[in-house]
Amino acid sequence: MDIRPEDPTELPTAHRVALLSQNEKVFHVILAQQFDREFIDHLVRIAEMVRTIADAKPGAMFLKSLLGHKRAMLYFIQPSTRTFMSFASASQILGMPYDEVRDRSTSSEHKGETEDDTVRVLSQYCDLIIMRHPVEGFAERMAHMLNAMRRPVPVINGGSGKDQHPTQALLDIYTLYRCFGGPLAERVAPHAEKNHFAGKTIAFVGDLKRGRTVRSLTYLLCRYPGVRLLFVSPPELAIGEDILEYVRRHGIAYSIERDLRAVIRECDAVYMTRLQDEWDTAGESKNIDYARYHLTADMTDQFKPDLAILHPLPRRHELDVRLDADPRAKYWDQVRNGMWIRAALIAYLFNVDGAVLDHYQSYYSY
Ligand code: NCD
Repeated sequence: MDIRPEDPTELPTAHRVALLSQNEKVFHVILAQQFDREFIDHLVRIAEMVRTIADAKPGAMFLKSLLGHKRAMLYFIQPSTRTFMSFASASQILGMPYDEVRDRSTSSEHKGETEDDTVRVLSQYCDLIIMRHPVEGFAERMAHMLNAMRRPVPVINGGSGKDQHPTQALLDIYTLYRCFGGPLAERVAPHAEKNHFAGKTIAFVGDLKRGRTVRSLTYLLCRYPGVRLLFVSPPELAIGEDILEYVRRHGIAYSIERDLRAVIRECDAVYMTRLQDEWDTAGESKNIDYARYHLTADMTDQFKPDLAILHPLPRRHELDVRLDADPRAKYWDQVRNGMWIRAALIAYLFNVDGAVLDHYQSYYSY
């Protein structure tokens, strides 16, 4: 039976989430709303274990033995450095070969093949498709389309238009766990139900209207009662009302701010973003004074001692390079954390997360 909705994004969120699962388990990874606390805690645990195991040669060889029988396809027709490289590296960590299509002009789309057919074809060569696409809802529509094939393969959304970037949100929250979550032993503890985010103030800064990473991470942070969110942006680039409505519905305290300097003192984490002017239709962001949304080295005297500075990258001028050497700068860590949490996610999708857990418990816990 073909249960493909015409436009899945029009369905209620709970319905969309249910359609992306199989056997009560996340199958396609499309929306950040698919991840509950239990899921995030589990992936953080597996990511910590994978990176510990990978550190020694026998462990790295064990990890490489897990998915040598699977193949991934990276269909990235929108520019990407980190997301592409970290999925490629995560696949290699687990021994899974991957192939890539990054340029439509080298595929049969150039001869008039539809994107839908291209994805159907690609799915025949692999067991997982990771995709980045400029159109909102594309990855979700492809997930439903592939469900109707005889051999459905999971889709991971590596960035869909201005809408969502769920695996970036996973690496962001993983980075925040490493900042706020206590020692490794605590982060890998089973059923780590402690809410490390209660009482923390996290500021999102910059182009919040078109920054998909901000949207996805906000959904995840709504899983942590007691967190406080500040949305710091020019009025023209304010966070969407749909997100604010979600935040309110989850009882999360927030405020809308216009000036980073006025609030930086209060922040436990600051999430910087660049101006997303590739989405401009008529140069509308040219007249915006973005300098008020820059984090600069002269502000350090106002930073909390353990402030966490995050940025999904790429950066422009909003994040002063003179902050790079400051121990509070976590953006290079984010890049590396992305590789480990994506390895954890892939391990989960192919049901080898249990093998990682068993290996860790037999070699690393006492
Ligand atoms: C982000 C993206 O593509 O949304 N980059 C990333 O994946 N790390 C952020 C951006 O492009 O500004």
